[in-house]
Amino acid sequence: MSVRVVAIDGAAGSGKSTLARGLARALGLPYLNTGIMYRALTLEAIRREVELDDGETLAALMGTLRFSLGHGDPPELEVEGSPPGAELEGPEVESHVSQVAAHPQVRALMRDAQRALGRSGGVIEGRDTGSVVFPEAPVKLYLVADPGVRAHRRARERAAPAHHVGEALETRDERDATVNPFEPPEGAVVIDTSALDVSSTLAAALDAVRRLAPRVFS
Ligand code: DC
Repeated sequence: MSVRVVAIDGAAGSGKSTLARGLARALGLPYLNTGIMYRALTLEAIRREVELDDGETLAALMGTLRFSLGHGDPPELEVEGSPPGAELEGPEVESHVSQVAAHPQVRALMRDAQRALGRSGGVIEGRDTGSVVFPEAPVKLYLVADPGVRAHRRARERAAPAHHVGEALETRDERDATVNPFEPPEGAVVIDTSALDVSSTLAAALDAVRRLAPRVFS
C-alpha cells in the first residue's frame, strides 16, 4: 500500500506552511513542518552554547529532543510535548539554522525522526521531504512564487519591512541551496502561487492529489 504522504517543498515565503496546514485539514491527516525540527535543534544548541560547526555534538543533542504530534485539527508537531514557541522564528534561530541543517549526521537523524512521525500518513513540509525523507510519496508538490511576492508575504507574517525580509530570504535561500538544491523533486507538481490566494492554492493542491493518487487519500 502507498504511504499516505503528501510532500510539500518550495522556497521560503512561497506559501508552503499555509497550504500544508489547509491540505492536512482537508485530507484528515497530520501536518508535519520539518523546518520546525531544525529550528528547535538550533535554539537548543544556542541555549547550550554548542559549537554550530560540531556535527557530532549537534547529533547527540538531537537525540535528546522529543518530537511528537499534537491532537489539534490538523494534528501538528510538538516539541517536548508543547506547540513550538515563537522564538523558533526569531532572528537568532533564523540566521543559524542553515548551519545546523548542513551537518549530514543531523540530517540522517532528522530523516529517521520525520519518517517515524509520518509513518501513518501526513502532509509533510520541508526542503528534502519529497527527495530524501519520503521519496516514495505518491503526491509531491513544489511551490514557487516571485521573489517580491515572497518577501511581502514573509514581511506580513513577521511584521517587518519587506526590503529587510527580502534580503534575509535571499541570504538564507543561498545558504540552504548549498545543502539541498532548489529544484522540484522527481515527479513533483509545481504550483506557482504568485497570483493565487490561499483558497485557490488549496484548490490547485487538492486537484493534484485527486489526479495523482485518487484512491490513496479518499
Ligand atoms: O522551512 P523553514 O524555513 O522553517 O526551514 C528552516 C531551515 O531548516 C531552513 O533553513 C532549511 C532547514 N530545513 C532543511 O534543511 N530540511 C528540511 N526538511 C526542513 C528545513
